[in-house]
Amino acid sequence: MMESIKKFLERGPSTSKEIQAALGLSQSTVSRMLKKMGDGIVQISAGRSVRYAATCHAFGGNDKLPIGMIDESGKIQLVAYLRPLNCGGFFLEPAVKNCSPLLLGADKTGLYEDLPYFLFDLRPQGFLGRLAAKGIAGQSEDFPDNPKAWNTNLIGRYLISNGDDLPGNFIFGEQQFLRVRRRPAAVSRNDYPRLAANAVKGEPPGSSAGGEQPKFTAFNAGQTSHVIVKFSPMGNNEVAQRWKDILITEYHAGRVLGGHGFPVAETDLFEMDGRLFLETPRFDRIGEFGRSSMISLDMVDREFIGSGSGNWVRVMEALYNQGMVNHPDLQTTRELRYFGQLIHNTDMHLGNLSLSIEKDKFRLLPVYDMCSMGFAPKTGEVLPFGFQPDLRESDLAMAAAERMRDMVHEFWGQVSNDERISDPFKNYLTMRATKNQ
Ligand SMILES: Nc1ncnc2c1ncn2[C@@H]1O[C@H](COP(=O)(O)OP(=O)(O)O)[C@@H](O)[C@H]1O
Ligand SMILES: [Mg+2]
Repeated sequence: MMESIKKFLERGPSTSKEIQAALGLSQSTVSRMLKKMGDGIVQISAGRSVRYAATCHAFGGNDKLPIGMIDESGKIQLVAYLRPLNCGGFFLEPAVKNCSPLLLGADKTGLYEDLPYFLFDLRPQGFLGRLAAKGIAGQSEDFPDNPKAWNTNLIGRYLISNGDDLPGNFIFGEQQFLRVRRRPAAVSRNDYPRLAANAVKGEPPGSSAGGEQPKFTAFNAGQTSHVIVKFSPMGNNEVAQRWKDILITEYHAGRVLGGHGFPVAETDLFEMDGRLFLETPRFDRIGEFGRSSMISLDMVDREFIGSGSGNWVRVMEALYNQGMVNHPDLQTTRELRYFGQLIHNTDMHLGNLSLSIEKDKFRLLPVYDMCSMGFAPKTGEVLPFGFQPDLRESDLAMAAAERMRDMVHEFWGQVSNDERISDPFKNYLTMRATKNQ
């Protein structure tokens, strides 16, 4: 009888009444059987309605995969279990009373058709994700070397096996809870040229981070901080120079925004062995072992809003209207987006803004990747400088807009005074400044 209930539940989560009707069983028999099936059955509650679902094994693990969050001091807190269901999909079962309701998803039941958004966010992505995927593809034929082609099962297997050093502070899977903690391999800036060369050669990264630009992650021992380091191509050809210009704009955008009190990822910029390096201490890591929460706006949109709009402000407004973010964070996002539009940041997609989970709200994290990306080489071709800011859908009040325009003025001034920019960039900025006087 238990087998037939389990089989019936393959069709989807069902109420006791539905099970009774389908299998011709009495209420007390169904209730007794469900109890007997113990932890192999989960209860999905919405208001007063309770549905039941049967679990199954997944990702080479069992049917109860622990999810933890690492705190600032490096301690793991078990927060929930991911319960794969035999009807497909997953149930997020809180393991603690103070588990954030945000982990339960848009319908607040914990039922997900696919991997929960905050785990899907941890799949290999971008430049480093491709290196990791290539590495795994070389070891196992199951895995295509393009991580975009990975299905849920492959992503889950990857996360279970590599769940100890993911972006943000989640850890996933039993092994990660039991793994002996080792000090991160310490490097200094002198190692960066070698690490960059390794990344270009395709060596799989130590830990993961998204984004398309060439980069590596490391633990900088001198600063006792985990860092993400982007770098320009080797040499001084036009393409390399243009990428240097872009990194220079990212550095100054951060300085100007930070100088005016905006939350922004710190960066440092330096030249070594023919490359320009932009180093940023990770705000999702604290010291050697501490971590803090980070989820991309992209995944939050996907789960809670579904706008697919690609517009930071639209998504933050929708979250604000649902009481999921605070007003100051919405306002800051408006200002940041306006700043980005004015500095030709054509890359303000939803992966370039992140939020943290704080109890029942999302909080805006420092902005990163804020640069004049519109000037970047396009499919290897370098175009002449020039742009008209695209100010569609920017709805800042006059005073705030003026303040941002002053900051943008300061930004162009700083970039233009930076001796590392290319001659064409310098000429363009001089011409702009004269025109605007
Ligand atoms: N200072 C930082 N702390 C933590 N995570 C960061 C930081 N800067 C960037 N990231 C993460 O790394 C990813 C890649 O960085 P990003 O600067 O956006 O690179 P790219 O230019 O390749 O898009 C981001 O999407 C974000 O998730
Ligand atoms: Mg990016």
